[in-house]
Amino acid sequence: MTANTIDANKRMNKFDGHASVWLFGYGSLIYKADFPYLERRPASIAGWTRRFWQGSHDHRGTPDAPGRVVTIIREAGAICHGMAYLVTPEEFAHLDYREKNGYLRLCTEMTFDDGGSVEGLVYIATEDNKAFLGQASELDIARHIAKAAGPSGPNSDYLNHLARALRELGKHDPHVFAIEQHLQQLNSGKQ
Ligand code: SIN
Repeated sequence: MTANTIDANKRMNKFDGHASVWLFGYGSLIYKADFPYLERRPASIAGWTRRFWQGSHDHRGTPDAPGRVVTIIREAGAICHGMAYLVTPEEFAHLDYREKNGYLRLCTEMTFDDGGSVEGLVYIATEDNKAFLGQASELDIARHIAKAAGPSGPNSDYLNHLARALRELGKHDPHVFAIEQHLQQLNSGKQ
């Protein structure tokens, strides 16, 4: 069965009554902001690392042939770079639908690249969600991504857009860039 976190996320009431909420994005939310926002600022969260360990049944794969997309995993000392958006609470209906395949809203502290920090939300797919795929080598992840596609398009587009967005932010992510490089070699027949 495909996971659906919409109901659980509706019960997340931490910011009820707030006129606006900061949302931290680390995956497709960096490069695809298909929602209105009041402000957008490069930011990071501490103690988390980005990993292509989440299955995608509804965007970059199907329930029978899931794609691989990112979630964040706790890691002491790690910093996950991304993009923070200030949104009004109405945007969460659309966001919960978009992130419904295993992602739960979690409260987090985020630090803006240009200074200051604030408490807000991040969508995280924990390892107990039904779509979680878990650890694999970066080469195996690239092989998986090379084959997968779903309603939002080829899985490789997700990886390439994310890698480009991180480069534009000036952030080096060894995991994402290693998978991107493996994929390029697979596509050129070198692997
Ligand atoms: C995010 O971008 O913050 C969540 C994962 C995704 O939608 O790719």
